[in-house]
Amino acid sequence: VFSNIVRAPEDPILGVTVAFNKDPSPIKLNLGVGAYRTEEGKPLVLNVVRRAEQLIVNDRSRVKEYLPITGLADFNKFSAKLIFGADSPAIQGNRVATVQCLSGTGSLRVGAEFLARHYHQRLIYIPLPTWGNHPKIFATAGLSVKTYRYYDPATRGLNFQGLLEDLGSAPSGAVVLLHACAHNPTGVDPTLEQWEQIRQLMRSKGLLPFFDSAYQGFASGSLDADAQPVRMFVADGGECLAAQSYAKNMGLYGERVGALSIVCKTTDVASRVESQLKLVIRPMYSSPPIHGASIVATILKDRDMYNEWTVELKAMADRIISMRKQLFDALRARGTPGDWSHIIKQIGMFTFTGLNSEQVAFMTNEYHIYMTSDGRISMAGLSSKTVPHLVDAIHAAVTR
Ligand code: LMR
Repeated sequence: VFSNIVRAPEDPILGVTVAFNKDPSPIKLNLGVGAYRTEEGKPLVLNVVRRAEQLIVNDRSRVKEYLPITGLADFNKFSAKLIFGADSPAIQGNRVATVQCLSGTGSLRVGAEFLARHYHQRLIYIPLPTWGNHPKIFATAGLSVKTYRYYDPATRGLNFQGLLEDLGSAPSGAVVLLHACAHNPTGVDPTLEQWEQIRQLMRSKGLLPFFDSAYQGFASGSLDADAQPVRMFVADGGECLAAQSYAKNMGLYGERVGALSIVCKTTDVASRVESQLKLVIRPMYSSPPIHGASIVATILKDRDMYNEWTVELKAMADRIISMRKQLFDALRARGTPGDWSHIIKQIGMFTFTGLNSEQVAFMTNEYHIYMTSDGRISMAGLSSKTVPHLVDAIHAAVTR
């Protein structure tokens, strides 16, 4: 009965890792998926995460019962505080519905399903370009997906005018997906002044913000600074949605830990929204897993562990910033044609190099360097030792 099934293509991002794993070359380098690596090219489990896991394992009172449909209560409470700020008017006013979900993707999907069922406008605007999974998440949930201009290839910066024009002509009530910080794949973020203009425009048109916050703390190294755009929208008293992931900032990739928060106008509305989120979640996966959320809650609750986390987080962010500088300096020293200053201007895990898909294919075939075909490289996958190899490949690709 399945003999007519057509083979599906690999995922544009995760498929890069599949191809990388098949390559026997000793010099191969994976700059595809956004996953942090140490200077030695190894995945990193944070010390504070190991500590929290020890506490959890040693605590015999902890059992493996089902969590509630909405997840671990402490995890939800501290996650909302982390993104909105402990002094947030929405948190103080008890008008946020937060549910634990399966990392960023799961949080976006639960939010999308909720909107498709309960929100009057089933249209979402996503930036052009955006993370490859975004259009699929929203379309699969039944929303219509349109794009708004975001990146300007000519300046390798923000197309702010285009963004304002496109959101300005969006129908009232449309949902708008915003990357809270460290835009993926471009590494280009609006300034705070530009965010303020975006906020005013969106509120004046009744557009509903849906933040994807996958890199809080990773962009600048400061958890508060990276949450600033989200907090600006919450401070004005209006509604918004926020999807949080702990994949990158706590290195909990495979634990699939995240949260969806919906900021409402009143406590009563928030509790009704939460009741409906339960109806979305229960038939999808019943309730979320306990281990990762327990690690996060343990760290966020304890001042000492929280502080240790911020130090380790800053070290990861700083290593990425230093890789940007090293790559930029090495390209300049090599005399590689082109203005590479965007490498040090862009922020977060990725550099949008400007290399086209043929150049990427050339680098993969000839240099065993793996990256997404849009020219995005994960700076977190690079180290001082591998910069020269990457520079050789880029130089050859742009001068052939
Ligand atoms: C990425 O963009 O590389 C990450 O967000 C990982 C993923 O799931 O695509």
